[in-house]
Amino acid sequence: MFSEKTVLALAILSLCGLGHADGNITSDTYFYGDSPPVYPSPNGTGNGDWAASYQKAAALVAQMTLDEKNNLTFGIETSGTGCVGAIGAISRLGFPGMCLQDAGNGVREADFVNSYPSGLHVGASWNKSLAHDRGWYMAGEFRTKGVNIALGPVVAPMGRLTTNGRNWEGVASDPYLSGVLAARTVDGMQGQGVISSVKHFIGYEQELYRNPTVNSDNQTVESISSNIDDKTMHEAYLWPFQDALKAGAGNIMCSYNRINNSHACQNSKTLNGLLKTELGFEGFVVTDWVGQHSGVSSALAGLDMAMPTGETYWGTYLKEAVNNGSVPLSRLDDMATRIIATWYQMGQDSPNYPALGVGMPYNISEPHKIVNALTPEAKPVLFEGAVEGHVLVKNVNNALPLKKPQLLSVFGWDAVAPVSYIPNNILASDPWEEGYEPALFELDGDVIINEPYDYQVAFNGTLSVGGGSGANAGPYVSAPLDALQQRAYEDNTVIMWDTGKNPNKLGVMEASDACLVFINAFASEGLDRSGTYDSYSDTLVAKVAETCPNTVVVVHNAGTRLVESFAENPNVTAIVFGHLPGQDSGRAITALLYGDENFSGKLPYTVAKNETDYPAYWHSYAVSPFSLFPQSNFTEGVLLDYKWFDAKNITPRYEFGFGLSYSNFSFSNLHVSSVQDGIATYPSGVIEQGGQVDLWDTLVKVTATVQNSGSKSGSEVAQLYLGIPGGPVRQLRGFDKVRIPAGRSAQVSFSLTRRDLSTWDVTAQKWKLQSGNYKVYVGSSSRNLPLKTTLKITTDSS
Ligand SMILES: *[C@@H]1O[C@H](CO)[C@@H](O)[C@H](O)[C@H]1NC(C)=O
Ligand SMILES: *[C@@H]1O[C@H](CO)[C@@H](O)[C@H](O)[C@H]1NC(C)=O
Ligand SMILES: *[C@@H]1O[C@H](CO)[C@@H](O)[C@H](O)[C@H]1NC(C)=O
Ligand SMILES: *[C@@H]1O[C@H](CO)[C@@H](O)[C@H](O)[C@H]1NC(C)=O
Ligand SMILES: *[C@@H]1O[C@H](CO)[C@@H](O)[C@H](O)[C@H]1NC(C)=O
Ligand SMILES: *[C@@H]1O[C@H](CO)[C@@H](O)[C@H](O)[C@H]1NC(C)=O
Ligand SMILES: *[C@@H]1O[C@H](CO)[C@@H](O)[C@H](O)[C@H]1NC(C)=O
Ligand SMILES: *[C@@H]1O[C@H](CO)[C@@H](O)[C@H](O)[C@H]1NC(C)=O
Ligand SMILES: *[C@@H]1O[C@H](CO)[C@@H](O)[C@H](O)[C@H]1NC(C)=O
Ligand SMILES: *[C@@H]1O[C@H](CO)[C@@H](O)[C@H](O)[C@H]1NC(C)=O
Ligand SMILES: *[C@@H]1O[C@H](CO)[C@@H](O)[C@H](O)[C@H]1NC(C)=O
Ligand SMILES: *[C@@H]1O[C@H](CO)[C@@H](O)[C@H](O)[C@H]1NC(C)=O
Repeated sequence: MFSEKTVLALAILSLCGLGHADGNITSDTYFYGDSPPVYPSPNGTGNGDWAASYQKAAALVAQMTLDEKNNLTFGIETSGTGCVGAIGAISRLGFPGMCLQDAGNGVREADFVNSYPSGLHVGASWNKSLAHDRGWYMAGEFRTKGVNIALGPVVAPMGRLTTNGRNWEGVASDPYLSGVLAARTVDGMQGQGVISSVKHFIGYEQELYRNPTVNSDNQTVESISSNIDDKTMHEAYLWPFQDALKAGAGNIMCSYNRINNSHACQNSKTLNGLLKTELGFEGFVVTDWVGQHSGVSSALAGLDMAMPTGETYWGTYLKEAVNNGSVPLSRLDDMATRIIATWYQMGQDSPNYPALGVGMPYNISEPHKIVNALTPEAKPVLFEGAVEGHVLVKNVNNALPLKKPQLLSVFGWDAVAPVSYIPNNILASDPWEEGYEPALFELDGDVIINEPYDYQVAFNGTLSVGGGSGANAGPYVSAPLDALQQRAYEDNTVIMWDTGKNPNKLGVMEASDACLVFINAFASEGLDRSGTYDSYSDTLVAKVAETCPNTVVVVHNAGTRLVESFAENPNVTAIVFGHLPGQDSGRAITALLYGDENFSGKLPYTVAKNETDYPAYWHSYAVSPFSLFPQSNFTEGVLLDYKWFDAKNITPRYEFGFGLSYSNFSFSNLHVSSVQDGIATYPSGVIEQGGQVDLWDTLVKVTATVQNSGSKSGSEVAQLYLGIPGGPVRQLRGFDKVRIPAGRSAQVSFSLTRRDLSTWDVTAQKWKLQSGNYKVYVGSSSRNLPLKTTLKITTDSS
């Protein structure tokens, strides 16, 4: 079972260059860089506010037998519980076991739970308190269902690939925005006593080859290796995890991919080094499901819990390895202590914590006990969350808001309720669950596209959540057409619709005051998208616009969606990116279209004019000589998304941070506090979870005034970008969303920490504050920055 060589051995082999001959690479000994061996695995220490939990955990673990400790580290058969993973009870010590359940947008495969706006929708809201509140109410439901560990939020993938199938689960194509909102989510979730599993650690940026596969020659093709240099690792991919750890995250899920050719769940550099040493992680590391590929190696590299079972590598084998000395007993003690300490840290030892999996149906289709987790308090957050993730990017001729139209026409398969909406079978959005195979799509014998139905479109109804383990179903889904009909009733509007799939057979009424077209862009775990626009939906828009000069397009997009075919069409008067709003979708878009609510969302990614403009559009393939060991070189480094567009001077269609409102906002009064001369170049603080504590010291305060110069009350997201010497042209380092009545002003403020102002010094292996001039920009998007100034910093090394 432990046939795989240790990482240490691999590292030594790699130094000798073995396996790197002229032909195909035949053994996993080729390193792009090198994943340096970092051993031994650090013990959790109980630093900072973990002290009391570690004391209690040490006392409990001291009473455990070897078998009992071992049992904490792997999943057991979950029959009788509906949990996606569970560890067993140690009844004689009063430990009831733990239930792990998907995912980041709501409890999966359960009834009587809500379906929240997806991660990307939260990213588009740029609202910190909303991220917190969503996490709080969502986790309340996990708790009621008897779940101990909720498998979310997602900060990797982080949108490196424009076409990644899971970008909708993540927050943004930017580490700062991802980090702030994920940290607020963790804070909200763990406030309920539910452990948040921040995932997927790390460099998990494509679905293709995420797991080992077997090729047509019956050879094993290893999982993709994300080859990431140290600076990029710190400044981009580790960054949001660091925020989540600072917020107290109790669990980290290691990912399927490899990093520098070493599996994420047995990579000693990332687990022992980055996570447990540099960032002082006190909680425990769990595998992604079936993401473990070795026994002794993964234990030594810092893995703490294997899911869903220990049958393959741990379980009896880990016990044997401890007994024969290949894994020190202290490592097993550390695994057990980390797991139990986290349980105490969240207060799950309380007698009030619901019993393991009490509300999780084993098979939702069969009779089961109903545990209702719905609460009236969650309703405003579900609705507000759905509203705020919509981004208005075009609005001409006063197209919006709608004003009691006489005749309103609605088009598109995305306007109607999904054909099936039950927890394990959301037909509009979850072909992955069904093992659905892509097929050629024909309509009434009238083929209007040549491309296969390739998962770009969800035809079977409105898309409110993406597919895969992040999907869940709420108590209802408000479909746009249903909500619009209700509104038509109230306004005495005549509403007509054609939600058929064939644009050549549409009945478009010329007399329509406005035509609303609902299209979508589907994405799912397990599969990267085959593009970022489809001619099917584009044709629908064009056909409606041919007849209707006031065409409003709403896209429910599970990731970036290009709109070049209609962005400049004069008859397309408004465009809304609706992302994945969750169950309140229709009510939210209707309130926005009619101006009962104002648009306040901003793009958490760049919409390009051409897919070739992105730094990494497609996934990497397995190509010779790496046919058996596919490689993805993160050669764009830290220049993700807008940073790449800025560096290459590429004009996007809609830039990162952009979004319109029914009001107008102006910016003034930029004020930047100064930094005392001779400030330390490097942090010197002790390490607690989240890294050296003084990385989080606020060094600079920035304020500005935002005025609502329009006639409608609304919210603006003031954004602060920094030009750090030697770094990208601009990087987001602050945002403040404020609600401002018409004609009034508000002050926005930003706190820049030592980390915010620093760059990663690969030699010193520390965050470095440089002497020099830092450009400070404040405005309403990454390219509309009316306020500018320079901040001078002089450190002790100059
Ligand atoms: C490398 O592997 C590929 C795919 O298995 C094969 O087509 C190719 O001939 C091999 N190249 C060499 C040099 O062996
Ligand atoms: C990735 O980097 C390695 C090492 O520099 C190189 O051999 C390989 O060709 C690169 N792969 C791609 C797809 O560029
Ligand atoms: C991966 O290799 C690069 C290049 O050598 C190195 O900078 C980085 O620290 C390595 N990271 C890991 C996790 O092995
Ligand atoms: C972890 O703690 C145990 C018990 O105190 C000790 O024997 C072991 O050396 C420690 N491991 C490390 C890596 O410090
Ligand atoms: C360990 O867990 C197994 C079930 O996976 C159970 O049968 C066994 O009794 C447990 N051992 C101890 C010592 O608790
Ligand atoms: C942010 O979201 C909260 C809901 O949690 C909402 O009450 C608040 O108005 C929103 N803030 C802004 C500025 O829109
Ligand atoms: C594929 O390889 C496995 C061993 O790696 C072997 O058991 C199996 O028979 C092979 N299948 C075929 C079709 O050759
Ligand atoms: C110890 O046990 C493990 C797990 O079964 C096994 O892989 C390893 O080879 C054993 N090592 C020795 C030195 O016996
Ligand atoms: C769940 O129950 C239904 C109805 O009895 C059955 O068809 C289905 O196979 C069951 N699913 C599982 C995973 O057991
Ligand atoms: C859409 O619904 C039809 C039946 O109306 C079904 O055959 C098809 O599989 C569904 N497609 C998806 C992607 O769920
Ligand atoms: C816009 O609508 C008018 C009808 O009002 C039509 O004549 C024209 O062709 C349309 N333009 C496009 C680009 O569809
Ligand atoms: C995108 O750019 C490529 C390469 O420059 C070009 O061939 C293609 O026509 C462009 N596509 C569009 C839609 O402009």
